Amino acid sequence: MARLLYQGEPVPLEAGEDVLTALLSAKIDAPHSCRAGVCQTCIHRVVDGTPPETSQNGLTDAQKKLGYFLPCICVPATDLYIVPAEEIGDSYESVVHEIEYLAPDIVRLSLDHDPDFKYRPGQFIELIANKNLKRHYSIASFQEASDYLELHIKLHPRGQMSKYITEDLKIGSKIYIAGPLGTCIYEGIDPDQPIVMVGAGTGLSPLVGIKREALHRSHRGLMRLYHGARTRSGLYMHDYLEALSKSHSNFDYISCRLDSDVEAERDIASVVLDKETNLTDPTFFLCGGPGLVNRLKHDLYMKGVSLKKIRSDVFVPADRSD
Ligand SMILES: Cc1cc2nc3c(=O)[nH]c(=O)nc-3n(C[C@H](O)[C@H](O)[C@H](O)COP(=O)(O)OP(=O)(O)OC[C@H]3O[C@@H](n4cnc5c(N)ncnc54)[C@H](O)[C@@H]3O)c2cc1C
Ligand code: FES
Repeated sequence: MARLLYQGEPVPLEAGEDVLTALLSAKIDAPHSCRAGVCQTCIHRVVDGTPPETSQNGLTDAQKKLGYFLPCICVPATDLYIVPAEEIGDSYESVVHEIEYLAPDIVRLSLDHDPDFKYRPGQFIELIANKNLKRHYSIASFQEASDYLELHIKLHPRGQMSKYITEDLKIGSKIYIAGPLGTCIYEGIDPDQPIVMVGAGTGLSPLVGIKREALHRSHRGLMRLYHGARTRSGLYMHDYLEALSKSHSNFDYISCRLDSDVEAERDIASVVLDKETNLTDPTFFLCGGPGLVNRLKHDLYMKGVSLKKIRSDVFVPADRSD
């Protein structure tokens, strides 16, 4: 059975157990959040041994070469000697520029940040209120065109960050950001090929960012954006996106509401699967809760879409053991 060494000390590892579970069971204070290989909070580095390839999903080639891996999705087949990763990215002090309600339970937070903080739209950051309150949010702004980092934040009724944002954060307040992380970005897309973006709720945020970059780079292929919400107020950029679709011949916006009178317009995944008949050329961007993203990823793959042509971000709630 594979053995696990953490900073030189052996850590018991059960057969089939992932490294994060083993570390936590050994009372090692390993950072973690989604426990699903998405948020990259748990990233560690192997100094001896080879992590399974799947435990490096979503990391950059440079990170992979340096032995970085995600313990929460790593079930080692061979011995591993691991150490905590250095800071993935520095954390930067930023200042709240604007807090705007886009819907009763969705806020647009604009942050004035250090110019050294470089990001791509569609990546995500860690928003740090304090040592014990850190959450992930995707980036809707495009740095070349905006001075402010833009986040679209769903306010959850019992959410700790949601409460902090609504009760404590004011214009001019200081808050820290770290990262950015993630590879759900426009980079590497052929400007003549179609892109299909599908998001539910605030899953729209990274897609708006990707769309901004695509337009800025004069994307010539079709850009189709699907946004799903429970009610009309959840379609929080409806008028703006509809106007954009009228002014740009290659931009198409389709909205779906669970409370629609028309049954065929309710389920965003079914609408996408019905409407998208060309499955060979587009790159798909899927963002939002695990239900939608995992279902569409599976169904598109089963219909023949290469996984290389699907980029996604799953909005997993933070593990609140922090
Ligand atoms: C890579 C990544 C990118 C993300 N980007 C965004 C983004 O751009 N905008 C955004 O609004 N969120 C985003 N999220 C999700 C966000 O980080 C979580 O929803 C976070 O837990 C909310 O923090 P909170 O303190 O308000 O609520 P918490 O204190 O974490 O949770 C409060 C309650 O709400 C429930 N809850 C929290 N989040 C969700 C959820 N997403 N779905 C269902 N139930 C939930 C919890 O289970 C808990 O019962 C992202 C997550 C990841 C991993
Ligand atoms: S990627 Fe491991 S905890 Fe999120």
